[in-house]
Amino acid sequence: MEHVHHALQLGQSGLHGFDDIKLIPNCLPGTSTERIVLDTQIGELSLSSPIVINAMTGGARETEEINRELAVAARETGLAMAVGSQMSALKNPEVASSYRVVRETNPHGIVFGNLGSEATVEQAQRAVEMIRADALQIHLNVMQELIMPEGDRDFTGMLERVRGIVEAVGVPVIVKEVGFGMARESAEALLDAGVTILDVGGSGGTNFAAIENARRETPLDWLNDWGANTCISLLEVLEAVQGREAVRGSSPSVIATGGIHRALDIAKALILGASAVGMAGAMLRVQRMEGTEALIAYIASLHHDLRLVMTALGATGLKDLVQVPVILGGETADWCTARSID
Ligand code: FNR
Repeated sequence: MEHVHHALQLGQSGLHGFDDIKLIPNCLPGTSTERIVLDTQIGELSLSSPIVINAMTGGARETEEINRELAVAARETGLAMAVGSQMSALKNPEVASSYRVVRETNPHGIVFGNLGSEATVEQAQRAVEMIRADALQIHLNVMQELIMPEGDRDFTGMLERVRGIVEAVGVPVIVKEVGFGMARESAEALLDAGVTILDVGGSGGTNFAAIENARRETPLDWLNDWGANTCISLLEVLEAVQGREAVRGSSPSVIATGGIHRALDIAKALILGASAVGMAGAMLRVQRMEGTEALIAYIASLHHDLRLVMTALGATGLKDLVQVPVILGGETADWCTARSID
């Protein structure tokens, strides 16, 4: 609940980097809003919307209500939804209902489980069973742990544990950052370990350095800008994925999360090559401040606005969006030059 409280209080910086992407207009789009299809695919999962309600909560009584309300919105709008880290329920089964409520509320929806990379194969299997998860997210959050006084300090063996979970868990595994971003080298290592879905979790949205600093007696504020923004992280991870396609003929999927809250940014992420976007803080804010009906209306407006942008760009489906030409400017262009990303 402290995370929920601080996430709402601190808000989002909006510095996700998508403002560096300029769209080239198309005054002869050749499509109509009625024809626009938002279906997408991440790994082997088919989704009716490219928007995912990303991992947030569970583990306490108050969080059960939040998860239930998010699950109602996911059910009513057809979005996939992740629960927050289930480690607390693995350690204390009494709180498992705060996660199970998501599956109970949305029995036929697409639901993701969530654990940290400290999890064992057996814990991963129990987390999936707990909510009959369609996929399991493994979060990487090194800087968050380091800022937390009670956080982990030993990051050895992460990749080996991820590999073991991918091999044994029986559902797709999504490896995600929580807002510090992912570089090409890390993405390549995860792809080598067999991961087929990566969530770039870049900075520019919910800031877990600032959240953990707000909980510390002696804040390490100089770490609040740590990491790479969502746009740059997406380009980094796509570079790793594209290299992989050429080598193996497989096609890993990429989710862009971090500060996304409007349709234009969703469209830009999809144009660059993301298969879906994750939204956490923005969904939480609307639900907590305005209620579940407002959240359902907000998601409907995102779908409406995304259809509008896609129509203007002449993109009937997500496959057409990746053909839309863009110009890269600002810090993103400099970063891509320095890192030889084309
Ligand atoms: C999170 N996030 C998160 N991620 C995760 O993998 N496991 C978790 O338990 C949590 N917990 C959590 C709590 C709260 C209150 C928030 C707001 C977020 C991170 C989340 O899934 C996402 O990666 C980041 O919040 C960045 O996205 P936004 O918030 O900028 O859209």
